[in-house]
Amino acid sequence: MDFNARTGDADKLRGACVVVGVSAPRHLSPAAERLDKASRGQLRDLLKSGDIDTECGKTTLIHHPKGRIQAERILVVGCGKDKPLSAKSFSQIASAAAKALQGSGATDAVSFLCELDVQDRDLTWKASQAVQASRDAVYRFDDLKSDAKAPKRPLRRMTLAASDADDLPALRDGIASGVAIANGMDLARGLGNRPGNLCTPSDLAEQARALQQKHASVKVRVLERKDMEKLGMGALLAVARGSRQPPKLITMEYSGGGKHDKPVVLIGKGVTFDSGGISIKPGAAMDEMKFDMCGAASVLGTVSAVAELGLPINLVGIVPATENLPDGDACKPGDIVTSMSGKTIEILNTDAEGRLILCDALTYAERFKPDVVIDIATLTGACIVALGKIASGLLSNDQELADELLEAGQMSWDRAWQLPLWDDYDEQLKSNFADMANIGSNGAGTITAASFLARFAKDYRWAHLDIAGVAWKSGDAKGSTGRPVPLLMQFLLKRCGGHAANDAQAQ
Ligand code: BES
Ligand code: MN
Ligand code: ZN
Repeated sequence: MDFNARTGDADKLRGACVVVGVSAPRHLSPAAERLDKASRGQLRDLLKSGDIDTECGKTTLIHHPKGRIQAERILVVGCGKDKPLSAKSFSQIASAAAKALQGSGATDAVSFLCELDVQDRDLTWKASQAVQASRDAVYRFDDLKSDAKAPKRPLRRMTLAASDADDLPALRDGIASGVAIANGMDLARGLGNRPGNLCTPSDLAEQARALQQKHASVKVRVLERKDMEKLGMGALLAVARGSRQPPKLITMEYSGGGKHDKPVVLIGKGVTFDSGGISIKPGAAMDEMKFDMCGAASVLGTVSAVAELGLPINLVGIVPATENLPDGDACKPGDIVTSMSGKTIEILNTDAEGRLILCDALTYAERFKPDVVIDIATLTGACIVALGKIASGLLSNDQELADELLEAGQMSWDRAWQLPLWDDYDEQLKSNFADMANIGSNGAGTITAASFLARFAKDYRWAHLDIAGVAWKSGDAKGSTGRPVPLLMQFLLKRCGGHAANDAQAQ
């Protein structure tokens, strides 16, 4: 779908559909007011007769509006009664509009939704959010269906309208970042949704190489098993033992900043299928463990979005990738392995494999002399117990970094919630036979997992996002969400002063 920005009056713009908001009980937005006047009061009449629902996110499509209106249709989106709108309501409104358009037969639309007031959010944010919500509404993953039915008349072009020409730069900025973030999320979702037989560690490495093909600013290196052996990555290699698929350690280096600017390092858990290994999982919903590489997918998505925008920063993405399967040669409960850091680990549960591959990646990250390191992982079922599917778990050894990430989550509406990293939890990792065990002893599974990682992240500012709850949806809407690409992008955009360096595609 293409997006562009323009100025114009709602009644005078030609096209398949014009989109406006109406709040409860009967408050017309400025563009809706113009349409009402030009249609001899049609909107107010429909409100009076109860044919327009003003509840937040309800849509009403009006065909062939009366009077002198140039568009073929009007889509009225209910905005509820809160003024200004909350960020959440605005996203709901933008998404309802896109869903209604997608089924309306209109292949293009001019949306005036960005004129709505949203609490603590500027026009750039609204434009970016409108783009993301629209792209989400039309997202499909049907590459693997032989009779995939594409919508007959898909929405192809969305114009975001402003009343004032002075607003165009902000709209274009928002469109550029919104499109890049949506592209990054689509990449992440596509990888997440791909089944484990296709999305293998080698396949992830290929997908990373494709980023290098696309962007001269991205350099990809893939370490093979023998390289990992040389580096002493005994924890990562222990997990890979049970798999016939060779493990890969993928690094993507994006240089958009100065030569001496320390990079942000993102590490994504890339377990392309997690059966639990010898500590095998129960069968129910085990298919969903193909999503256990969603951390990795979010790193690829973020690197891709940053490269697309040409942000003036240095960024390194690291993806340790392997399967976790049972096999005669698989690692076993009780095995003790030596990590790249030299610390020994007693593997009490082979299903706590994420931390084993991440700890070696955390040690490997030191060589990039990072400013900060953020790992992203579908790490613990306990995180779903604590926070459900709403927020990512956030744990950090640096409160300033934690605050920046919390704020980025709040702003992008891809929220995270902090949990404590107290010593008391760390003590639960005690092993009788090695430097530490790979599982904790007394509840708080998300925190003990992070405490384990923290032991390998002592040399830099570090944060951990547990995305077990947010990375995918189960049930009828089963599928990858692309989270937390929006949070990560907001965090990185803020570091560059908030705006995209290269908004060429929004012109
Ligand atoms: N990938 C899982 C975590 C997970 C489980 C995410 C279910 C989303 C849904 C992880 O590798 C795992 O198995 N963790 C164990 C840790 C335990 C053995 C200490 C868990 O959460 O049960
Ligand atoms: Mn596991
Ligand atoms: Zn796992």
